[in-house]
Amino acid sequence: MDESRREGFSFLVRLRADFENGSNRFDAAGEALLGGWCGEALVAVGGLNRDPYAPEPRVGRLRHLYVAHAFRGRGVGRALVEALVSAAATHYDVLRLRTDTPDAARFYEALGFVPVAERHATHRLVLVRPPTA
Ligand SMILES: CC(C)(COP(=O)(O)OP(=O)(O)OC[C@H]1O[C@@H](n2cnc3c(N)ncnc32)[C@H](O)[C@@H]1OP(=O)(O)O)[C@@H](O)C(=O)NCCC(=O)NCCS
Repeated sequence: MDESRREGFSFLVRLRADFENGSNRFDAAGEALLGGWCGEALVAVGGLNRDPYAPEPRVGRLRHLYVAHAFRGRGVGRALVEALVSAAATHYDVLRLRTDTPDAARFYEALGFVPVAERHATHRLVLVRPPTA
């Protein structure tokens, strides 16, 4: 939390505030809040909500992805996003997110997200559902 503030990111503060006041606990159907752990230490977080800006119900939104500086570049962010994408697959047709840093944009694009110029999103990923038997 302190490190993210020093880096100029306010979203972990918001994540905690929203969790504590109950406005976003990532606990509705199709939602998840995941942590990356090194032993007892939480070193990464990432969340999945239904996208509140999308009129259609089957649009999910990745939120508040953060990997502690010392753990970056080791695949932790990829592992978290892949787990969130997998959790999203049965609930949504599309995942969206908004980022305002070029580094994060390159990260998401390395994971297959496509840049878009939408009012509430900079990137999207179309989810491919496994065929039903
Ligand atoms: C962006 C962030 C989540 C990436 O996490 P990470 O654990 O370092 O990323 P990974 O090591 O899993 O990298 C996954 C892929 O993205 C690429 N990538 C990661 N950061 C990158 C960067 N800055 N520029 C270009 N590519 C990058 C990696 O090369 C890797 O590609 P590969 O798997 O094909 O080799 C992390 O840097 C971070 O927390 N940044 C600060 C907070 C932030 O920007 N959050 C996103 C806000 S929307």
